[in-house]
Amino acid sequence: MMRTHLKQEGVSMQNEGGKAQSAECDIGFIGLGVMGNNLTMNLVDHGYRVACFDLDQQKVEAIRSKDASERADGTAPRVEGCSSYTELLSKLKAPHLIFLSVPAGDPVDHVCNHLIDAGIQADDIVVDTGNSLWTDSVAREEQYKGKFIFFSTAVSGGEVGARFGPSLMPSGNPYAWTRIEPVLTAIAAKVDPETGKPITSHTPGEPITEGEPCATYIGPVGAGHYVKMVHNGIEYADMQLICETYHVMRNALHMAPAEIAEVFRRWNDGKLNSYLMEISAEVLEQLDPETHTPLVDVILDKAGQKGTGLWTAVSALQVGSPAQTIASAVFARSLSSLKDERMAASETLSGPSAKNYSDEEKAELIHKLEEALYCSKICAYAQGFQLMAMAGKEHGWDLDFGEIAKIWRAGCIIRAVFLQSISQAYEKDEELTNLLIDPFFAEQITRYQADWRESIAQATLAGVPCPAMMSALSYYDSYRTAVLPANLLQGQRDYFGAHTYQRVDKPAGKKYHLEWSDPARPQTAIKR
Ligand code: 6PG
Repeated sequence: MMRTHLKQEGVSMQNEGGKAQSAECDIGFIGLGVMGNNLTMNLVDHGYRVACFDLDQQKVEAIRSKDASERADGTAPRVEGCSSYTELLSKLKAPHLIFLSVPAGDPVDHVCNHLIDAGIQADDIVVDTGNSLWTDSVAREEQYKGKFIFFSTAVSGGEVGARFGPSLMPSGNPYAWTRIEPVLTAIAAKVDPETGKPITSHTPGEPITEGEPCATYIGPVGAGHYVKMVHNGIEYADMQLICETYHVMRNALHMAPAEIAEVFRRWNDGKLNSYLMEISAEVLEQLDPETHTPLVDVILDKAGQKGTGLWTAVSALQVGSPAQTIASAVFARSLSSLKDERMAASETLSGPSAKNYSDEEKAELIHKLEEALYCSKICAYAQGFQLMAMAGKEHGWDLDFGEIAKIWRAGCIIRAVFLQSISQAYEKDEELTNLLIDPFFAEQITRYQADWRESIAQATLAGVPCPAMMSALSYYDSYRTAVLPANLLQGQRDYFGAHTYQRVDKPAGKKYHLEWSDPARPQTAIKR
């Protein structure tokens, strides 16, 4: 039974003087790790009073001190520390709105079950903000039906995003959304709608209030986390492509990290402008405090991963959506982690040595690499959007790709200036089947593809691996090829397994089989 009607207007806020209107808190927050702590402080910056709980009480103490250090003297605390789930519920206005930021998987259910034991009600809302697997969110909505409303909001932007404006991908019960929307649009990153550039402020207590919020309702539960999963798949590809470009400069052109950083900074002023480009330059410039040598040379080349890129690649395989650049990026991480094997193989396996580039040739290749990175990046994003479109069809989600591109323009890890062009492409043509055939992107690739091909050729001749970049070019070439060798493949399948084939000269869908062992079948006379 619903205790009351859900409020349509969102949760109430503090008065202007910073004093809470009552002792009750507007929102509960469970899980005060890096993301939870920063999201909570973002909420309080927007005037919400938050009751906090974490199994680790030191984290509760930490956020209380953070609040004390950030609020003006003499003002009321904006966070209330709780030592149990029951205490947390007792401090919240009804119906309760509770955010969770706990590791994906069992910990989410652990918290949900504790909330049930503590007396959570059917009209209370629990919002999972972690990196949950989207199918888990779908199962949870069903599992907790009647006990509370399970809602999910995927969050991107890391620590700084969480604190000063993340990109948010909410999905679930539309009725609950009416209550959550004002909260999420308040704390989300903001974008200048004209330029598509983020509006930023990193000053506690001075949140951005103008601009377009990077939060939009994605669809039924699971859809938001699916979209975030694909965001992360694109993130893997984008990062890998930047790393491959660095590798060519490092191993073929023998450039020092600081010199590469300078090139990346220059690129960041143009069409490659993005958060990942910016931080890559910063990482390359950084010296190791211990040895005073470039930090990148001290960092072990074994990539970690928490699973979201892998989930994207698995989903692409399941849905049958070609996302090879994303998958290549996941495989590149796996291969990097085989460090001992690679070290041993480097002693035995040979490859070409890079030629000596003249200054002029070096400058030329650097210029071409910029275009190669740009074209590859377009393909990675095209794959991500194509995957969302195919998955959306399969799961009955009506995904708005123009809006999704818009909420990725700020706050999230893959924020980039060219997401503005992606949003415009989908706004112009809602039925767009692939970004590659949007007139703007088609023209861009036509213009830069010779440089893209040349860069990959140079990398290959120098023996520098660039799996993601190569897979992006193959994706492009495959997508634009009217007749692929799948005709021969179908012949092979029919030959050994009678798997049948369709014919180009007969109606689609009709299946044919050739009796390959029939000596009377017509054959080309080949001299053996
Ligand atoms: C984000 C990030 C965030 C996290 C990745 C890291 O959007 O804020 O994607 O979710 O940094 O999950 O993933 P890996 O550890 O797998 O690289």
